[in-house]
Amino acid sequence: MAEEKEGTDLFCGINVPDDPDNLTDLEKKHLPVITAPDEVKAGECFEVTVEVGKLLEHPNKRSHFIGFIELYQGDLYLARVDLTPVTTCPVLKVCVSLEKECGPLRAFEWCNLHGTWKATKEIAVSE
Ligand SMILES: [Fe+2]
Repeated sequence: MAEEKEGTDLFCGINVPDDPDNLTDLEKKHLPVITAPDEVKAGECFEVTVEVGKLLEHPNKRSHFIGFIELYQGDLYLARVDLTPVTTCPVLKVCVSLEKECGPLRAFEWCNLHGTWKATKEIAVSE
């Protein structure tokens, strides 16, 4: 497969970029991009968007597609969207209300050909 990472089994573990400042095309297609405030107040609603293919469009066809996107705060599960090959825009968009510091926002996406990929975004929760 032309897009394999050299010497890496993409289905063994969770994939992250080797060098976040110098992304490969494979990494650009799969890395979830989290858009959220840097700081929020406890109990106040805010919007979080997780986009896959924002940096470089990911294919969406029966043979190659994004199957799901999940969002966590640390290890706390927040949201999930299940996708199919006809979902042309792999995006998770939710309103969230965090109660306390519980770790960074973490997003995971799964591609049927290239495994699970993770992105992290720090977020401060003030009282
Ligand atoms: Fe893929």
